[in-house]
Amino acid sequence: MPLTIDVITLFPRMLDGFLAESILGRGIGAKRLDVRVHDLREWTTDKHRTADDRPFGGGAGMVLKPEPVFAAMEQLQTPGCRRVYLTPDGEPLSPAIAEELSREEHVIFLSGHYEGIDQRIRDCVIDREISIGDYVLTNGTLAAAVVIDALSRFIPGVLGEEKSLTHESFTGKLLDFPQYTRPAEFRGMSVPEVLLSGDHRKIEDWRHAQRVEKTRKVRPDLLKQHQT
Ligand SMILES: C[S@@+](CC[C@H](N)C(=O)[O-])C[C@H]1O[C@@H](n2cnc3c(N)ncnc32)[C@H](O)[C@@H]1O
Repeated sequence: MPLTIDVITLFPRMLDGFLAESILGRGIGAKRLDVRVHDLREWTTDKHRTADDRPFGGGAGMVLKPEPVFAAMEQLQTPGCRRVYLTPDGEPLSPAIAEELSREEHVIFLSGHYEGIDQRIRDCVIDREISIGDYVLTNGTLAAAVVIDALSRFIPGVLGEEKSLTHESFTGKLLDFPQYTRPAEFRGMSVPEVLLSGDHRKIEDWRHAQRVEKTRKVRPDLLKQHQT
């Protein structure tokens, strides 16, 4: 059974290219996952297809109204599905969260816009809130794409080579090692000799040392977790 994903957004076309291309496009083509993108305005009832309104209590911007989102959720949800709201104040996306979501049968992503969404949506029809980082996007559609991309890598058969997951950044709390391909010499820059040696033990050791060094320089916080 493919993982079924619904995305509810005011900007469904933002995902057109993303879903058609590369590894994700192949995964969808191979029926490993089934992604359906919905325009939230389909669930509006007035002639202007209004999905937002001014915030109670004043302040700048607009807030997504509860009625269309509740209606969308009530139509799309299935027993046991996970309903995820993308939001900067959610739990930070991690490989563990991506892997967990990849094991679900049905996930619904809700993208917010403007100032955010009515709190009653979060209280009643959302199971999990996820942030893709400590910065603020204009809407959650790209954030949904990021989570879908990250989780798709954990679905068997989506990545060509399953083993390409085993050394990636964050596996074992270390960043990835540097990669080289042909030519061995390019504009005076040589590939590290060890990689041409054919000695797999030495290559493994070198790669591990590189991962530790890179992590020490760029993300020492991860290295502390790695040691504990
Ligand atoms: C301008 S933001 C709203 C920000 C909200 N007022 C706050 O300060 O937390 C509009 C929408 O973009 C999405 N968004 C923005 N940044 C995000 C992030 N870092 N991760 C996930 N979604 C994000 C959310 O869906 C949010 O409802």
